Amino acid sequence: MDSTFFYTMPWFNLASAAAVIFVIVGVWVLILQKWNPDFGTMDAPDAIACLRGSCGDAMQISLRFKDGRVVDAKFWTDGCRFSNDCGAAAARLALNKTPEEIADIDYVAIAEEVGGLPEEDLHCATLAAGTLHESLRKYFSQG
Ligand code: FES
Repeated sequence: MDSTFFYTMPWFNLASAAAVIFVIVGVWVLILQKWNPDFGTMDAPDAIACLRGSCGDAMQISLRFKDGRVVDAKFWTDGCRFSNDCGAAAARLALNKTPEEIADIDYVAIAEEVGGLPEEDLHCATLAAGTLHESLRKYFSQG
C-alpha cells in the first residue's frame, strides 16, 4: 500500500472537511465569546449563581452592586448560541437595576431582549432568568 492510498479515499476527504468545519466553528464561538463584554466572570462578586438547565447546559451569572444598583454583571455558559444570547441579555438587563427591578426580569423580557426565540429554545431564556434570580436570592441570603 503506497502513501497516496489515504489521500485518495473519499472518507479521508470527508474527515478532512469535517475537521476543518469543526475548527472554524470552534474559533467562531471563541471569538464571539471573547468579543462579548458581558461574557466571563469577575473577582469577588456581590452575588453569584450557577444553574444547570433541563437541557444539561450550565449558566453562571455574577453581579456587583454599588449604592443599591448593579454596576457590573457577567455571565458564563457552556451552552448553545441561544444560551449565550440569553445570558448576555440577562446581564445587560440587570445593569443599573435595583434588586427589586431585577426580580421583575423574567424569561419573556430576556427573550424579547434577544429579538425573540423559537418556541423550542425558550428554555434558554428560562435558564438565564432562573440564574439571574438565583444570584439575587444568594445576594439577599448573604445578609
Ligand atoms: Fe441548553 Fe440553550 S440548549 S440553554
